Amino acid sequence: MLNNPAIAFVGPGKVGCALAALMQEKGLNVIGAVTRVASSDKTKPGQEIFPELTTDRGTLARRADIIFITTPDDRIAEIAEDLRKKENAGSKKLLVHTSGHHSASILGEKNVLAMHPLLSIARWDLARESLKKAWFFLDGDQFGLEKGRELAQILELNWEVIDGSNKASYHAAAVTFSNYLVALVNAGLELQKKAGIEKEEGLEAAFPLIESTLKNLRDLGPTEALTGPVARGDRGTVEGHLKVMAGEERLERLYREMGLFTLEIARRKGLEAEAYREMKKILEEGITGGQRK
Ligand SMILES: NC(=O)c1ccc[n+]([C@@H]2O[C@H](COP(=O)([O-])OP(=O)(O)OC[C@H]3O[C@@H](n4cnc5c(N)ncnc54)[C@H](OP(=O)(O)O)[C@@H]3O)[C@@H](O)[C@H]2O)c1
Repeated sequence: MLNNPAIAFVGPGKVGCALAALMQEKGLNVIGAVTRVASSDKTKPGQEIFPELTTDRGTLARRADIIFITTPDDRIAEIAEDLRKKENAGSKKLLVHTSGHHSASILGEKNVLAMHPLLSIARWDLARESLKKAWFFLDGDQFGLEKGRELAQILELNWEVIDGSNKASYHAAAVTFSNYLVALVNAGLELQKKAGIEKEEGLEAAFPLIESTLKNLRDLGPTEALTGPVARGDRGTVEGHLKVMAGEERLERLYREMGLFTLEIARRKGLEAEAYREMKKILEEGITGGQRK
């Protein structure tokens, strides 16, 4: 591979644009991106940063030394296969994907790298700065990892190598940290609405609470960060919550299940055995109309 490798992207979406922008900022040679949409007036946000935007996958790929496939996960293998067919046998071209779920081996056996940013990228422009703080998890063959380390150094990334066969657990964790946090906050907003607080002001009002919880988590770790009725063993309060959720099975199931996970942390934090047993019973069995189920 050359000193200043030519880098192309297939699938210039949120991750592709954010990564390409960071590479440009660090002086790397991003030559262009392959999109499925021909017309320039249909350019998606961020795609204007690429010096060339083309639908001709073969031509751009042949000029590139490194090709990042940043399409949806389900498309990566077939695009890699197509790119392999289009390039010369024995080429030192590196194929890279950014999926957290798949290992690099879905790209082929040799010259492959997976480089997953452990970050939620909802908009490419917002991610440009946060990518610099994110951890990237790398797997690949020897050549891929070597080049991955070089790239990570140039981009000044935090990085770690992961065993590609463990990626399903790794990615399930990422989904839990990020996507389920969003779903949990949304469920909180549904509960707030029952108290007459509308969604928009509810989110605004909840944010200092959410941020202080995240800060406590970071500063103190999950055991010390835990506060609230389950941690205190306040049975009556938890029963009161379950009463207002009667008839709302989705919310009640979520509350009770999360309560049981919370209870295990509370036990670690020192909740007394009797209080633990009582709380466990309420959370496992629930209540109906003020009575235990
Ligand atoms: N977003 C995140 O938080 C995040 C975080 C870490 C890793 N990742 C990984 O990064 C990769 C890209 O994710 P993303 O969030 O950037 O996705 P995205 O914003 O949806 O972008 C994917 C791009 O791929 C192209 N594409 C869509 N469907 C395609 C198809 N059927 N065939 C070929 N190309 C197609 C589209 O570009 P054109 O329309 O221009 O062709 C689209 O803009 C995925 O592997 C994902 O798992 C995402």
